[in-house]
Amino acid sequence: MAPTVILDVDTGVDDALAILYATRHPDVRVLGITCVDGNTNLAQVCRNTLQVLDAAEAGPIPVAAGAARPLMGPVGDSSHVHGDDGLAGLANRDTSRTLDPRHAIELMRDLVEESDEPVTLVPVGPLTNIALFLSTFPAAAAKVERIVLMGGSASGGNVTATAEFNVWHDPEAAHIVFSSSIPLTMYGLDVFYDLTLGEREVAELRAAGTPASALGADISNYRLNSPDADMTLGDYGAVATMLHPELATGIPMLVSVDTSFGPGRGQTICDQRPKTGDPSDTRLGRECTVIVDVDAEAMVRLWIDRMK
Ligand code: BDR
Ligand code: CA
Repeated sequence: MAPTVILDVDTGVDDALAILYATRHPDVRVLGITCVDGNTNLAQVCRNTLQVLDAAEAGPIPVAAGAARPLMGPVGDSSHVHGDDGLAGLANRDTSRTLDPRHAIELMRDLVEESDEPVTLVPVGPLTNIALFLSTFPAAAAKVERIVLMGGSASGGNVTATAEFNVWHDPEAAHIVFSSSIPLTMYGLDVFYDLTLGEREVAELRAAGTPASALGADISNYRLNSPDADMTLGDYGAVATMLHPELATGIPMLVSVDTSFGPGRGQTICDQRPKTGDPSDTRLGRECTVIVDVDAEAMVRLWIDRMK
């Protein structure tokens, strides 16, 4: 059965790559896309998302604006990775697409309630919208089949030594989501940087000549010419894991989120110790499937071919 999904994004160069793939794939039904403050400010995230849908040559998918700041703590962006416009300097082209008038969490509620098929949420930004949705509309949230998210890490962080950006940006929201009872797969930093593109793949994209492949090539050039020269397909990996689970290896772990204001803020603490079953069991967190390995070559190839 074709997965029926809602993407929650903070577009973002690698969010763009995830959107391109999901909306161009014939076996995925993207019911809607919700936007959240993260890589750049909310208004820009919304503009970028509409533009990416143009490049994807997607049908009329509803896009709604959500949270403009984290539940607690300051607003901060990732312009050093994604550019000042969040889209590698490629944003602000004209589009005839407009935003859905509903708030992101109202759109999620309506789409989940109206869907004939079970819905998977695929958040690839900070978890503010998802936390607000779970808290505001619990009856609709109870109908969600699963969450496959990009965020967290069982190893190290990329913003601090221990925290990954999406969780670090809104740890309280992440705590709410990781505490929910919805089955959850965490595609985190343990695999996030594995899906890379180089000059050869960029040339292949350029030669394909579609709007999607052109955007992919432009984003890749931007990232390859940046100081860290790191071109990962990033958030796309969460979509690939959801759609092609045979290409990802997951391990059950108990995960909890550090919401302290100490040096560990935003860390996903992943407990892999086996259950002892006795009262001295000190493990904390809720069970998630944590992706620890991916067939990067196969995932990259699927993405490139889908852009053609
Ligand atoms: C995450 O942070 C953002 O910069 C990316 O879009 C990705 O979702 C990686 O830590
Ligand atoms: Ca993202």
